Amino acid sequence: MIGLERAINIKSPAEIAIMREAGRINAQTLEAVKAAIAPGVTTGELNEIAETFQSKLSVYSPFKNYGGPYPYPASICTSINEELVHGIPGKRKLKEGDIISVDCGTVYQGFVGDSAFTVGVGEITPEAQKLIAVTRHALEIAIRLMVPGNYSGDIGAAVEAYVEGQGFYCTHVYTGHGVGRNMHEEPQVPNYGKPGTGVRLRAGMTIAIEPMVLVGTRHTRVLNDEWTVISRDRSLCAHQEHSIAVTDEGPLVLTDL
Ligand code: MF3
Ligand code: CO
Repeated sequence: MIGLERAINIKSPAEIAIMREAGRINAQTLEAVKAAIAPGVTTGELNEIAETFQSKLSVYSPFKNYGGPYPYPASICTSINEELVHGIPGKRKLKEGDIISVDCGTVYQGFVGDSAFTVGVGEITPEAQKLIAVTRHALEIAIRLMVPGNYSGDIGAAVEAYVEGQGFYCTHVYTGHGVGRNMHEEPQVPNYGKPGTGVRLRAGMTIAIEPMVLVGTRHTRVLNDEWTVISRDRSLCAHQEHSIAVTDEGPLVLTDL
């Protein structure tokens, strides 16, 4: 894994301080979106809220126009019910009982913050509540392991063991990732793995950890819009993400308020 480790951008304390600010602004953006989530609101309106908030602060989302040959067309991802990640905001109205994940990034002074949450719209089923709670706890488990000397495989293994112990599944296709001047950097951090394998964590690594959890299967497919990822059995999905800095003082969550 020597080659891979050389490709990892180690951040200085000054760079991590900028990333903390990028992450804070990202958290504020997500808070503004979360406050608007209610039955009848469209996902396009949620995207507008994020864009208005970010433009007032002269920051922007790295999601907009990301990738090719079908550049991502919005600043946030809104993924409802059986949608796991990368749902495109539009005219769809939220309704009572839906669950929605909102994923957003912020570029501030050249550095990216990347984070996502899943919440219910009004009253949701006990199964949906459990799914969201398990996904949040999976992220907490992962964060605690983000210390120098641990391996990326330790994190994936712990996340998957916990999620499967709760009767749910982790995708093996979409992963967490290094984050910095680019939204996606080395290393990849899957939500599965073998302890003691992968990349050895060290201080200055900044990584977006993102458990993506499915109720009925680990398998997914991509819709014809070329972006929206759904569970193959159309069971409910949830997603929680934080960008984390590995430091000698322990994990530093960059993308909370
Ligand atoms: N948080 C997602 C990720 O880490 C956001 C990417 S959506 C995209 O991959 F459209 F920008 F690709
Ligand atoms: Co991410």
